[in-house]
Amino acid sequence: MKLTLLSLFMLITFSSFAQNVEKGAQLYGTCIQCHGEKGLGIEAQKAPRVAGQHDWYIYTQLVNFKSKQRVNEKMYPYIKNLSEQDFKDLAAFVAQLK
Ligand code: HEC
Repeated sequence: MKLTLLSLFMLITFSSFAQNVEKGAQLYGTCIQCHGEKGLGIEAQKAPRVAGQHDWYIYTQLVNFKSKQRVNEKMYPYIKNLSEQDFKDLAAFVAQLK
C-alpha cells in the first residue's frame, strides 16, 4: 500500500500536470474507502468505478454533489469542504488512473 502510493507519487511527479495530479492524489486519500485505491469502485459501498473517466465529467459531478443538484448523501460529508480547485485536481488525478 505504502509502496504503491510512493510509486504513484513518483509517476505523477514526472507527468505533465505535476501539480494538479499530485495535489489530487493527496486529496484522493479520503475517497479510497469507497472508490478503491485505483478508482475501480467498491460494490459493497455502491461506489462506482471512476478511474479513467473524463476529467470534465468527474469535475462536473463533484460540483453537482456539492451544490446538491445531484444528491449523494454518502459522499457529501467528504466533499462539502473542498474547493473547485480541489475538484479540478481530483478530476485530473482520477482521470489518469488506469
Ligand atoms: C462514503 C463513500 C464515498 C466516499 C468517501 C466517496 N464517494 Fe464518490 N461516490 C460514492 C457513491 C455511493 C457514489 C454513487 C452515487 C450515486 O449513486 O449517484 C459516488 C459517486 C461518485 C462520482 C460519480 C461517478 C459517476 O459515474 O457519475 C464521482 C466522480 C465520485 N464519486 C468521486 C469521488 C471522489 C473524488 C471522492 C473523494 C473526494 C469520493 N467520491 C468519495 C461514495 C463515496
